Amino acid sequence: MICYVLFVFSILCSVTGGGEGATVAYNPTDLFLFNCGSTSDNVDDNGRNWTVENRKFMLSNLDNASFSSDALYQKTGVPQVPYMKARIFRSDFTYSFPVSPGWKFIRLYFYPNQYNFGFDAVNTFFSVTVNGFTLLQNFSADITVKASKTESIIKEFIVPVNQTLNLTFKPSLSSLAFVNGIEIVSMPDRFYSKGGFDDKIINVDSFVDFEIDNSTAFETVHRRNIGGQMVSDVRDSGMFRQWLPDDDFGNGGVVVSVLNAKINYTDKTPVYVAPEDVYATSRSMGVINKDPSLNLQRNLTWYFTVDAGYTYLVRLHFFETTLDVNGINQRVFSIFIGKQEAKREMDVIRLSGGSQNPVYIDFRVFVGSENGMRPDLRLDLHPLAETGPLFYDAILNGVEILKLNSSDGNLAGTNPDPILSSDLTPSLISPRVGKGNNSHILVIILIPVGSTIVLATFIVALMLSMRQMKRKKKRKENSIVTFKVPLKQYTYAELKKITKSFSYTLGKGGFGTVYGGSLSDGRKVAVKVLKDSNASGQDFINEVASMSQTSHVNIVSLLGFCYEGSKRGIVYEFLENGSLDQFASRNKSLIQDVTTLYGIALGIARGLEYLHYGCKTRIVHFDIKPQNILLDGNLCPKVSDFGLAKLCEKRESIVSLIDTRGTIGYIAPELFSRMYGRVSHKSDVYSYGMLVLQMIGAKDKELVEATVSNASSSYFPDWIYKNLENGEETWIFGDEVTKAEKATAKKMVVVGLWCIQPCPSNRPPMNRVVEMMEGSLDALEVPPKPSMYISTRLIPETSSLSDSEEAE
Ligand SMILES: *[C@@H]1O[C@H](CO)[C@@H](O)[C@H](O)[C@H]1NC(C)=O
Ligand SMILES: *[C@@H]1O[C@H](CO)[C@@H](O)[C@H](O)[C@H]1NC(C)=O
Ligand SMILES: *[C@@H]1O[C@H](CO)[C@@H](O)[C@H](O)[C@H]1NC(C)=O
Ligand SMILES: *[C@@H]1O[C@H](CO)[C@@H](O)[C@H](O)[C@H]1NC(C)=O
Ligand SMILES: *[C@@H]1O[C@H](CO)[C@@H](O)[C@H](O)[C@H]1NC(C)=O
Ligand SMILES: *[C@@H]1O[C@H](CO)[C@@H](O)[C@H](O)[C@H]1NC(C)=O
Ligand SMILES: *[C@@H]1O[C@H](CO)[C@@H](O)[C@H](O)[C@H]1NC(C)=O
Ligand SMILES: *[C@@H]1O[C@H](CO)[C@@H](O)[C@H](O)[C@H]1NC(C)=O
Ligand SMILES: *[C@@H]1O[C@H](CO)[C@@H](O)[C@H](O)[C@H]1NC(C)=O
Repeated sequence: MICYVLFVFSILCSVTGGGEGATVAYNPTDLFLFNCGSTSDNVDDNGRNWTVENRKFMLSNLDNASFSSDALYQKTGVPQVPYMKARIFRSDFTYSFPVSPGWKFIRLYFYPNQYNFGFDAVNTFFSVTVNGFTLLQNFSADITVKASKTESIIKEFIVPVNQTLNLTFKPSLSSLAFVNGIEIVSMPDRFYSKGGFDDKIINVDSFVDFEIDNSTAFETVHRRNIGGQMVSDVRDSGMFRQWLPDDDFGNGGVVVSVLNAKINYTDKTPVYVAPEDVYATSRSMGVINKDPSLNLQRNLTWYFTVDAGYTYLVRLHFFETTLDVNGINQRVFSIFIGKQEAKREMDVIRLSGGSQNPVYIDFRVFVGSENGMRPDLRLDLHPLAETGPLFYDAILNGVEILKLNSSDGNLAGTNPDPILSSDLTPSLISPRVGKGNNSHILVIILIPVGSTIVLATFIVALMLSMRQMKRKKKRKENSIVTFKVPLKQYTYAELKKITKSFSYTLGKGGFGTVYGGSLSDGRKVAVKVLKDSNASGQDFINEVASMSQTSHVNIVSLLGFCYEGSKRGIVYEFLENGSLDQFASRNKSLIQDVTTLYGIALGIARGLEYLHYGCKTRIVHFDIKPQNILLDGNLCPKVSDFGLAKLCEKRESIVSLIDTRGTIGYIAPELFSRMYGRVSHKSDVYSYGMLVLQMIGAKDKELVEATVSNASSSYFPDWIYKNLENGEETWIFGDEVTKAEKATAKKMVVVGLWCIQPCPSNRPPMNRVVEMMEGSLDALEVPPKPSMYISTRLIPETSSLSDSEEAE
């Protein structure tokens, strides 16, 4: 067994100093953040402001060459902004950004998924160029994302620009191109081309200093916070870089993280070089079996996957994290890059000129293709004994690896191999070290030197950070508990504030009351406060999480939720025209327009199709009725209240439905009696059919209401069916209806009658319903006559709302 003995840690004293300006983060002169395809400005999870694309910057004809679309699903961990909107390019498309001269970060955000209008971003290949540099070629966002085991990806480039930055998307043959977000950020002058803290770039291959000319562009291949957590864009030192952890590294090094580290940034290593979060954490070797010299037989090793055939700039960040290493010749080590000695003697304090000064060094290395097209660039740190240092150890705080363009201005590598890469972690490949080194049993012994208080503080900090790491791991494993959706959790007091103490009631339903309100930014919302739900908190949160994963134009959007004690609330988008029944009673004339009705009916069908087939797990609504169909300002229907049936007392929900006059007509017979078949998604098809028939029969509203709510009079669809048989077509409104409108109305009747077949297996599934609604009337067979005699007096079976679903 290997025992790691940590050096004694001490808290760093607060130290400030360094030159003027060294302590100020960078403030970018150029900053663009486009949420491509969006029609409104949005704030992302980190509070950054994304704007709609500035039309003045689009050189291509916006409407001919591109369109915008919404992603159909929001996978866990994918932020809504900018990923849920995309601009899709049919042909070459150029954005032209006016910028100041110098190098700019260009970050392209991609979420390869299914989008509205049938756009499938998964199967796209395209190229991206900027001012003569090829950034991406035959690029597949999907393959790239899968290889990195994420759902979305940010590609970062650093490009020299004089005045305009022309960013061009070029779809490959018979493909489209797309992008979700574009970010342009300036940086300090020649930040990545002038060299490290000493303005030098060490040439690993030949030990001759190397210079990067003013016409070279880069791609960021890796940026890691060694031994630490992810540092998000807003925690960077002004350039919005993301620093990822190096967790996948399995070499067993010791992680040290210092709370409240005060770092003495200097003129040579000013504060914008890397944020404190990067310098405050590190990885070092520790001491094995109390024998420090054993480190001389080991390396601290990382493997970074790169593209072969390119030159790389490797920037290493160092900072002596502990006060125990506080002078020169205490921790000295050699740096190897690509198995070649890159720097023989690295003494952080000697180089930085002070025990609390950070320092960064740049290396240049060429990676050939002798080990395949996507080889690993290996980084080794090895203790150097020959100077007689106090400790045989090495340390590293941060790494950046940038690819330099080839002589023809190309930066694009090939797509990762989809099969091979599934076995590989994105960049740091775990234990490939000598045998015995990857033992998972680490015994950490602290040798007490110095103040015990200091030591105790450190143990606590260490334990905290280990607990955090454990928790992080657990969260990764248990994806059900993961609740990483861009949903806001509100307190009950906040709900109260939003709804002005629940003063404006929009409606009452089986599951609770809906109140109108407005958020602090003025956005209007609808807040549903659930009646005492017997669902556990975890069920509620899981259900809200799964509801929030839906994203479809015909599904109402969730904005947030409240879960506090027994209080459960859901915050939805507010829709101007209210529910279908409210709208119908207010707008008699509009609701008699066949084209309008057809548009609404088709939208509802699409929404239900999405719930049944478009989500990760099928969502059955169980409560389709006009009260649960909301209409926005353009009369686009949105299905609401799905998922709630599961959360509320089953028996109660049915009883409460029966209480509501007329509602019974929408409930499928199998919900009342097992005699008709099993409860399934086909129950929604039935409700949909009744809804459509009622919409088209709305002319005789009084008659419909009478028949639907009064079981003794003739069954409502009966007379519609008779009319269809006799060719009377009394459901056609007015004299001015055109022939096409007549056909549309008849089609709706036929589809509706198919949907309300008493036997669930005779009803078409929702995807077929959409096809039937979209197709021609002639293609439809006349349905069998639906007849059944249901009575409101039937006692609902308690098991009727079970999750049982009929297999297709
Ligand atoms: C911070 O670094 C500067 C430059 O090396 C040095 O002059 C100064 O003494 C350092 N301050 C402290 C407190 O170490
Ligand atoms: C975003 O915009 C709002 C209002 O325009 C502003 O108050 C806020 O400071 C901005 N946030 C950032 C990070 O720029
Ligand atoms: C864009 O499309 C319109 C109509 O289809 C056409 O009149 C126009 O010439 C097109 N513009 C370009 C730049 O192709
Ligand atoms: C960008 O495009 C504009 C318009 O086509 C052109 O005038 C300008 O020279 C281009 N700039 C660069 C750097 O290519
Ligand atoms: C940048 O623009 C200036 C004038 O606008 C021009 O004199 C200079 O040659 C340009 N530099 C490059 C590298 O294109
Ligand atoms: C690169 O540009 C800088 C100014 O940003 C200038 O000082 C330097 O001389 C240029 N180097 C070359 C090789 O052109
Ligand atoms: C340490 O790394 C160097 C360079 O990659 C390598 O030559 C050497 O064998 C490694 N030593 C150990 C013990 O792994
Ligand atoms: C990058 O491309 C530019 C323009 O094509 C070229 O001048 C420069 O030399 C290239 N850089 C390298 C390192 O090859
Ligand atoms: C584009 O990439 C795909 C996937 O890596 C590959 O199969 C295909 O051959 C490439 N096409 C071209 C033209 O390079």
